[in-house]
Amino acid sequence: MARGARRSAWTAAAVATVALGGVAWLHGTLDGTWLAASGVALALGGVIGALGQPRIVLAPEAQSPTRHSIAEALLANIPDPVILVDRRAIVIEVNPAARALLPALKVRHPLSFALRAPDVLDGIEEVLRSGLPLKTLYTTRVPTERAFEVQIGALPMPDGPGGGQPNVVLFLRDLTSARRLEAMRVDFVANASHELRTPLASLLGFIETLQGPARNDASARERFLGIMKTQAHRMTRLIDDLLSLSRIELREHVAPTKTVDLGRIARQMVDTQGPLARERGVALTLEAEGAFPVLGERDELLRVVENLVENAVKYGSSGGMVVVSLARSSGDAPGKARIILAVRDAGPGIAPEHIPRLTERFYRVDVASSRDKGGTGLGLAIVKHIVNRHRGKLVIESTPDVGTTVRALLPEAPVAQKVESTAE
Ligand SMILES: Nc1ncnc2c1ncn2[C@@H]1O[C@H](COP(=O)(O)OP(=O)(O)OP(=O)(O)O)[C@@H](O)[C@H]1O
Ligand SMILES: [Mg+2]
Repeated sequence: MARGARRSAWTAAAVATVALGGVAWLHGTLDGTWLAASGVALALGGVIGALGQPRIVLAPEAQSPTRHSIAEALLANIPDPVILVDRRAIVIEVNPAARALLPALKVRHPLSFALRAPDVLDGIEEVLRSGLPLKTLYTTRVPTERAFEVQIGALPMPDGPGGGQPNVVLFLRDLTSARRLEAMRVDFVANASHELRTPLASLLGFIETLQGPARNDASARERFLGIMKTQAHRMTRLIDDLLSLSRIELREHVAPTKTVDLGRIARQMVDTQGPLARERGVALTLEAEGAFPVLGERDELLRVVENLVENAVKYGSSGGMVVVSLARSSGDAPGKARIILAVRDAGPGIAPEHIPRLTERFYRVDVASSRDKGGTGLGLAIVKHIVNRHRGKLVIESTPDVGTTVRALLPEAPVAQKVESTAE
């Protein structure tokens, strides 16, 4: 093949030279200089063609094993499961992703031993009959529920082991996370509509009462207007929370670059929320010495502290105290130091089964009681997204009857950035 390529390079150069010579002769411009130049061009064309080709052309004896190992390496690196079977659905080749998904899969064994899916097996027969590719679905329930789209196609193998018979290749594409996302989106829309509809229904009810039976009742009017105002505020808050959630999500992949002092942010929030906490009989204190520089967005970090303090005061008021503290942990490697913001209360705590779900949108341990307290169930979801954007981690620890501690672990700002923070 290398020799063939070299020959065709020479031929092409020669044909081009002769053709150009013909054109020059027709126009009367054929002279000695032209002939010399075309001779050089012919030689160069041939040499370049001959030099360029061997780099991609393999010697015949090396070609087959090398290509085979390239194909194997390629197959091994495909992250989705790929299975090759012959026309009797006997497994010929599988990649590691397929082995991981179907541990019972063995070369030279029928595919049906490992993949009990009539749709897929029928699909193989159909592809062999029609020669056309098709897609079908494969779902598993054990160990977890997963769904795959299986693309089945005929693979002609003229010099394969089956004597030229086409084999069949199966590509499996994991649809599990896409489906979960879709379910979450549907749930989210349903939850958001439900949360909005409740105050809206109450508003409409009061409007009708005020237009009808309570038209001339001044005291009822005052009372109803008060409730309507609360409901309208609730709707506004819900919409604000939804909007800020989507804004944060939109920027989640862009980590903040400005250095801010988390100590100052915590101090500001403790000062603002102190009076409200006192009204509920809660002593709100801050434990923080010095500066705690993080790469962050000030407004977003204010929301983190606000939400955590609000929760601790709202749900842990029976403990009578809430402590906001800041600390630095040096981390396991240089440059990995973290600033730890902790909000601790001595309230009733949270049962362990709820803890993993608290950061889901609209998730509340006690929906009625949270709603009474004006909660929408979006607070911790917002906190989680902000902490993610700051490349940090949120840890919730709670012991029933002892209290709850929520920690946000944020990477410390690099030393070079600290100068900026003092100037801020
Ligand atoms: N410190 C805490 N002690 C006990 N329960 C808590 C605490 N913090 C949160 N929770 C529980 O977690 C749930 C979710 O909290 P989250 O902040 O996401 O929503 P919310 O407070 O109900 O509403 P929002 O924050 O929008 O006002 C709360 O409804 C509450 O049941
Ligand atoms: Mg909250």
